[in-house]
Amino acid sequence: MDYSKLVEMAYEAMSFSYSPYSKFQVGAAVLTEEGKVFTGCNIECASYGGTNCAERTAIFKAVSEGYKNFKAIAIVSSSRTKTQPCGICRQVIEEFAPDIEVILADEMDYTVYKFREFLPLPFSPHEHLL
Ligand code: THU
Repeated sequence: MDYSKLVEMAYEAMSFSYSPYSKFQVGAAVLTEEGKVFTGCNIECASYGGTNCAERTAIFKAVSEGYKNFKAIAIVSSSRTKTQPCGICRQVIEEFAPDIEVILADEMDYTVYKFREFLPLPFSPHEHLL
């Protein structure tokens, strides 16, 4: 799949962001090995710890529907910068897709990274637990 399409889908998901507290909207679209796309937005909660990031929303939607092999994830935000995934999302990506490509976009200007660049010395379930 063309990554510009994945970026567009992430922006579409961002439009559903529920972020009344931070007012920071995030969208993500994750591409499975099978070619399916799951999207997600950030969902905040008055008890702030209940907030879920866009990346985890997308990944959890996929896993909960039986897909857990991923090729790429596009991440966008309302900030007009290439927004990087937070630490918790990095650990969740490590869980399912340590070889995934990460596409960070500011509108249609995007850069493709290897996930390992974001989490160089991971706590790896693959090494220790699985
Ligand atoms: N957020 C994400 O959705 N993904 C990230 O990787 C960074 C942070 C959300 C969480 C919260 O709703 C808002 O951005 C501000 O932290």
